[in-house]
Amino acid sequence: MEHHDLLDEARAAASAAYAPYSGFGVGAAVLTNDGRTFTGTNVENAAFASTLCAEAVAIASAVAAGCRQIERIAVAAADGGPCPPCGNCRQIMNEFGVHHIVLEDATGEAEAHALEAMLPEAFGPEAVRRGQAQ
Ligand code: THU
Repeated sequence: MEHHDLLDEARAAASAAYAPYSGFGVGAAVLTNDGRTFTGTNVENAAFASTLCAEAVAIASAVAAGCRQIERIAVAAADGGPCPPCGNCRQIMNEFGVHHIVLEDATGEAEAHALEAMLPEAFGPEAVRRGQAQ
């Protein structure tokens, strides 16, 4: 699957966003290592802190279907502008092995960014396993 195809799925997902408070709709689409795709949208809440980001919803859908290895994730804002993932979502991506994040560049084209560049020196599962070894 090409980067722009995954970004198109994220754009399509954004149209279902539930964002009555911010008005900022987001869509995400993941491609798993076994070739399946799952999408998500942001789901806001009157208790603002209970809001779910689109990336977290898409990744949770993949995990709920048994896919724990995610190759790529595309993120798109409903307004067509750029939508770099928030820090919490970068951390969630790290847990499930995401290699690349596909975003729109300044001209609207799909551009892949390495997660390692967007979340350097990440805290991951290996660190917690050190504690289990003791
Ligand atoms: N949002 C996402 O869905 N993903 C991000 O990575 C950044 C922010 C959503 C959360 C909220 O509904 C709206 O965008 C404004 O913050």
